[in-house]
Amino acid sequence: MHPNTFAPLPVNQPAFSSAAPVGIFDSGLGGLSVLRAVRGLLPAERLVYVADSRYAPYGQRDDDFIADRTLAICEWLVAQGAKALVVACNTATAQSIALVRERLSVPLIGVEPGIKPAALVSKTRVAGVLATQVTLRSARFQTLVERHAADLRVLCQPGHGLVEAVERCDIGSPELLALLRAYVEPMLDAGADTLVLGCTHYPFLDTAIRSIVGERMTLVDTSIAIARQLERVLGQHGLCASAGEASANADDIRFCSTSDGAHLRELAAALLGLDASVERVVIPSRRTPEREANAA
Ligand code: DGL
Repeated sequence: MHPNTFAPLPVNQPAFSSAAPVGIFDSGLGGLSVLRAVRGLLPAERLVYVADSRYAPYGQRDDDFIADRTLAICEWLVAQGAKALVVACNTATAQSIALVRERLSVPLIGVEPGIKPAALVSKTRVAGVLATQVTLRSARFQTLVERHAADLRVLCQPGHGLVEAVERCDIGSPELLALLRAYVEPMLDAGADTLVLGCTHYPFLDTAIRSIVGERMTLVDTSIAIARQLERVLGQHGLCASAGEASANADDIRFCSTSDGAHLRELAAALLGLDASVERVVIPSRRTPEREANAA
């Protein structure tokens, strides 16, 4: 990251209230897999979801770009009144969560590939990890592997093309299956019995992956663990919504996209059974000022 890249001032932060929404953000549609789990576990919580689809995939962006967008979106969510944030993107977490923690005092939950659960379940002691290149090369990921996978052989595979497929709402085309086969068959050949879905877009590919690996692999998806972590953190801060405050219906979820939102709406309908309207939002950042102004 460039020195002096970010202004030192913290954003103005309102006092948080338990009735306020939880902000959830991803580079695109992948965070809906986390939103689905949060909604299942914490139905009383109001949610604001931001898909930065205009700039997805983050996995192909430079580190500074990812940090810039992540911080701008987190600040935007706080300005919208969010009482806690879930960075539902492994890539943004790996790259930028430390910076966001420095800058914002809002309770913050990140996501990371499920190396720890994989180490607990793998019998062959070989596990595959599918994640973006940015996640796999991050210091955070290396630390995770060193900490939890001492006796586990970890086969890292960048999932080039997979985020793009989900963003197109392609979760089962022949081309996608061929791509997935090229990624997971070498893992099977190497004896892997566990596959970590290290990107929040990938749980939407579970049926496609299952059609290739059958029962030979355990798929590790951490979205439910993230929802539990959110519950714990809200509890620690006295910020859990009471059952009377809201209920799990489409009106309690505000869907926002920096793109036209059509795919977000399609996936929300397919995955969550919600006929949700999607707001197009403009979230300028240092690296994207003119392009956002043009989009407005
Ligand atoms: N869902 C994001 C993740 O968990 C995808 C990153 C990207 O846009 O490349 O890593």
